[in-house]
Amino acid sequence: MPLVSMRQLLDEAAKGGYGVGAFNVNNMEQIQSIMEAARETRSPVIVQASRGARSYSNDRFLYHLMLAAVELYPEIPVALHQDHGNSPETCKSAIEMGFTSVMMDGSLMPDGKTPSTFDYNVKVTCEVVELAHARGATVEGEIGVLGGIEDGHGAGGDALAHVTDPDQAAEFVRLTGVDALAIAIGTSHGAYKFTRKPTGEVLKMDRLIEIHQRLPNTHLVMHGSSSVPQALQDVINQYGGKLRPTWGVPVEEIQLGIRNGVRKVNVDTDNRLAITGAIRKVFFEKPEEFDPRSYLKPAREAMKKVVAERMTQFGQAGHAGDYEPLPLAAMAARYAAREL
Ligand code: G3H
Ligand code: 13P
Ligand code: ZN
Repeated sequence: MPLVSMRQLLDEAAKGGYGVGAFNVNNMEQIQSIMEAARETRSPVIVQASRGARSYSNDRFLYHLMLAAVELYPEIPVALHQDHGNSPETCKSAIEMGFTSVMMDGSLMPDGKTPSTFDYNVKVTCEVVELAHARGATVEGEIGVLGGIEDGHGAGGDALAHVTDPDQAAEFVRLTGVDALAIAIGTSHGAYKFTRKPTGEVLKMDRLIEIHQRLPNTHLVMHGSSSVPQALQDVINQYGGKLRPTWGVPVEEIQLGIRNGVRKVNVDTDNRLAITGAIRKVFFEKPEEFDPRSYLKPAREAMKKVVAERMTQFGQAGHAGDYEPLPLAAMAARYAAREL
């Protein structure tokens, strides 16, 4: 099965009433973890690469690893998505290389941290929609701005400063024709999202529900959706790490989101924590080890476990064989005929 359109994955998820995890990758082991978890749980999946991932791994390595993934796991529908594209040029280069989906994050200026204007966001997103849909690729836009700049994507400071306005969201979708919409509801990237278990004061699920009521046919995307489980933090700290106490987004809040239009759930940090904990454990318990396989294998297994758990919790498990993926050319024809 070739790489498939993210739009088709999300349309099917909407029909089935489930969410699809979008997991970030930077290397072979992370791709293998995700594919093994998808096989074990029979899940369709979104694999995503940030600009940093593309430059770390070199585009061509990443792309060919993904081709290996679809060749080796033919039963799994996989979309390859550009996470947080900072400009139309970034999105264009991803599509030209074979990504089947891109995020044009026009909520920020190309520096990835300065909030932009609504007009700028509409302009760059429309540009990307035009070029992507002509090739059958999917576009995710963002309205409102995530908090935090731990990883260089977000406005910094107060995560509630730029929560998505439902009127603006509706207008943005109407003007741009995006396939999926990322919204800001108080989350941020990275491990340090909340200083205690989040309540409605800091994690605005009511706002998400309001947006879904305004836009019942739009696939919503939750960024910054790692749950930062205590157990993963404990492994790191038990073996010499120094994470400060922190809370992520509880899985039950994500599930509430999924019941209210969330179709794509972005998770990176939980996998980073799992990998780091597993590697620290080997280094601590077997300081004599120096074969990278002795720590990368448990790291890969630890990430697979987290991904499989999320796939089950988001509801995508068991849905890999539900539909025949359409070639991108067929998706392009559907966009041209205004069926989508
Ligand atoms: O969007 C955030 C993801 O966690 C990717 O982060 O830019 O450090 O690769 P990154
Ligand atoms: P986390 O840092 O919560 O895993 O979020 C990842 C993300 O939103 C990638 O775009
Ligand atoms: Zn994100």
